[in-house]
Amino acid sequence: MKDAQPSTVYLKDYRVPEYLVDSTRLHFELQPKATLVKSQLKIRRNPAAGEGLPPLVLDGVELELLSVSIDGKLVPASRYQELPQGLSIPVDAPEFELEIHNRINPEDNTSLEGLYLSNGMYCTQCEAEGFRKITYYPDRPDVMSRFTTTIVAPRQYPVLLSNGNETARGTTEDGRQFVTWEDPFAKPSYLFALVAGDLQQVEDSYTTASGREVKLQIFTEAKNIGKCDHAMRSLKKAMRWDEEVYGREYDLDIFMVVAVDHFNMGAMENKGLNIFNSACVLASPETATDSTFQRIESIVGHEYFHNWSGNRVTCRDWFQLSLKEGFTVFRDAEFSADMNSRAVKRIEDVSMLRTTQFAEDGGPMAHPVRPDSYMEISNFYTLTVYEKGAEVVRMIHTLLGAEGFRKGSDLYFERHDGCAVTCEDFIKAMEDANGVGLTQFRRWYSQAGTPVLDVTDAYDEATGNYALTVKQSCPPTPGQEQKLPFHIPLALGLLGAEGTDLPLDSAGNTQVVLQVTEQEQTFNFTGLQEKPLPSLLRDFSAPVKVRYGYTTEQLLFLMRNDSDAFNRWDASQRLAFMALEQLQSDYRQGKSLYLPEALVAAYRSVLQNRDLDPALIAEMLALPSEQTLAEQSEQIDAEAIIVARKFARGALAKALKDDLLVCYRGLHSDKPYSPDAAEIAARSLKNTCLTYLCVTEDTDALELAQQQFHRASNMTDSAAALGALVNFAEAADTEAALAQFYQRWRQDTQVVELWFGLQSTSARWGTLEKVRELMQHPAFEQKNPNKVRAVIGGFANRNFTQFHRADGSGFEFVAEQVIALDKLNPQIAARLVIPITRWKKYRGELGEKMQGALQAVMDSGKLSADLYEVVSKSLA
Ligand code: ARG
Ligand code: ZN
Repeated sequence: MKDAQPSTVYLKDYRVPEYLVDSTRLHFELQPKATLVKSQLKIRRNPAAGEGLPPLVLDGVELELLSVSIDGKLVPASRYQELPQGLSIPVDAPEFELEIHNRINPEDNTSLEGLYLSNGMYCTQCEAEGFRKITYYPDRPDVMSRFTTTIVAPRQYPVLLSNGNETARGTTEDGRQFVTWEDPFAKPSYLFALVAGDLQQVEDSYTTASGREVKLQIFTEAKNIGKCDHAMRSLKKAMRWDEEVYGREYDLDIFMVVAVDHFNMGAMENKGLNIFNSACVLASPETATDSTFQRIESIVGHEYFHNWSGNRVTCRDWFQLSLKEGFTVFRDAEFSADMNSRAVKRIEDVSMLRTTQFAEDGGPMAHPVRPDSYMEISNFYTLTVYEKGAEVVRMIHTLLGAEGFRKGSDLYFERHDGCAVTCEDFIKAMEDANGVGLTQFRRWYSQAGTPVLDVTDAYDEATGNYALTVKQSCPPTPGQEQKLPFHIPLALGLLGAEGTDLPLDSAGNTQVVLQVTEQEQTFNFTGLQEKPLPSLLRDFSAPVKVRYGYTTEQLLFLMRNDSDAFNRWDASQRLAFMALEQLQSDYRQGKSLYLPEALVAAYRSVLQNRDLDPALIAEMLALPSEQTLAEQSEQIDAEAIIVARKFARGALAKALKDDLLVCYRGLHSDKPYSPDAAEIAARSLKNTCLTYLCVTEDTDALELAQQQFHRASNMTDSAAALGALVNFAEAADTEAALAQFYQRWRQDTQVVELWFGLQSTSARWGTLEKVRELMQHPAFEQKNPNKVRAVIGGFANRNFTQFHRADGSGFEFVAEQVIALDKLNPQIAARLVIPITRWKKYRGELGEKMQGALQAVMDSGKLSADLYEVVSKSLA
């Protein structure tokens, strides 16, 4: 924890590094409480930085400095200066070799940044600024160096890994073993990795398009060795896909993946040695759900794709984070779309974006895809940088077309290979390769907030002209009162009365991408025989909100007829949203609630539709979540949202009972599990039906859930049934099922996390008392982020009902946990606090209670930089 108030770093202050590091030799002698690090750096004055020889300033945090030598000569302590966050050394030659010895304490490192221990295994996490917790170094991504790493460890750590290729191994005089690794590619310190442990491995190989053989290895603790197959298959698919779609081959002879139980994020793309959160790599049909299988495929792909979009071409500074993250999320989303159902993948991603990223864009921490400033960079690994950043790249893809985009990415990789570059360089490559200008488009990188499109139309029967008027606006965000118009690709089609797409030009195209660039713009379509119905923002062609005065009938029509699967789903969401708005308002006015017959009929026909992808049906049947409804509210009335949604769900369940049952029975199968798109789709719809059936709390429905729970041969079915019981069965039955499930899976960390999550998110059972009880459970571990996320995070982020208890006790609980966690792991604390930062959006007393809880965090004493930034900005 830092002493002074954390300071703000600005993009405009960027300066090239004063010194470069041509090579980095690291030597580790591993010991839990006292690991010795020796670092030898070949340092050279950066010719681009100017004249003279300023002192060499290195970053270093929580290090015990032992010695400093230059060109083999010890530098006396009086010559250099230890800074609060580093070291300043006077320099008298433009080139020299620096050797530093220091000690670190991996065992007590609970921040999970730098070198730490997880279940007795050593591992590292260096992005963004964790390397400075290992040794003194210019810890910034534009200093790229060739690394050689030697690890010395006692015999109980037979596996010793680092980046690149193994070049030596042996035994030291005192009987310890050592391994040396050399990475032939220059890299920034954030891509450094080290692993040491008693690990098993699964091995495979991959032959690249040009015929090189690459060894693939996944390392885990012995008990998990049977859970690596899916990740290995996913890795090989990703390697092939990147060759086919981007022409990018892997570049080392070996690619390693390690599963680690204690990890702040999903995974990390360290060169040649990816480190994964166990939850994002380990799976078997018995223990992992379909969504876990799919998540693993996408994260394995994501980290692999970083080898080009991130490692070969990296970021100049951390303001450019979206350069690698936005692009790589776009790449992994396309990979997943190609491997599975494209429409369903898009729907899942957009629902997430709309719920969580839009909320971020409308909240106190709103920032552009390329932020202008930060106090703590870890706080900017956000939905905006990742998911909105990916949408920005997707818009470039839409504007240039697949071929043009590929030309641009080829030029980008060719021009900047081995370099640390900026978002500007990415757009420039896209422009240059296509001979186009994207000047106005760049505002997506610099302006925060979610733009709104207000669309109106007019049809002139006499001339057959259809005029579509689009007005764009963007609400103010912190530090940005006024916004300039964005360049928005608006994909649309026009439906005729028959429900088919009308031709929009002489060539017969039925879809256009309008270039919305002005505050207000009218687009004319001529020669139309009838007034068309617009299908707007097809496939969600831009991260914006579209308002158009659709009637219920028009939405029902789009739900049935739109040729764009995404917009068919979107129509169902708009329809549900309208109904839920009405219910909220009726509830506030004390009116009795009822669900419009048209909505029930629409859901029934979706459910009976045998031509639609079952996964799409499941998505259409799902009502917008409470979180989504909250995001779309001007002022959040949590109680009305909860009541309205619960009522609508219950009314639908009752009215559709027979159809749900038919559908459920029709989809039930005894086939062996396979995580392919068709089977996942079937299970998804089946379990959606089961959940709806149980909403009624009818005994026959709950009996069905019991049966499925007891007979399930895969975790998807088992967890869905248990989830239904946890939410809707009587207390005794729920307890029995939970106990039985735990008994069966208590040895399996990933399943226990799921078990925690089912309870903390239950609207019924996830009461505060239950959550507090779970925190006393022997399997709960405050130092393990996955457990914290499952129990506390589940409650704060995915249990709208209980978290928003009217007495404010949900908020107080979260505040209390955040304060405790900040002492152990600032990154986790700063994320967990987010649900209580949006107090300004709440109506009345609930908002005040939330603000009070947040203030209590602020007043609790010295906060980490991470937590201080989020809390202070949210109270302002
Ligand atoms: N680069 C990693 C990924 O997106 C995430 C690393 C996050 N690290 C952090 N300190 N927030 O794949
Ligand atoms: Zn990433």
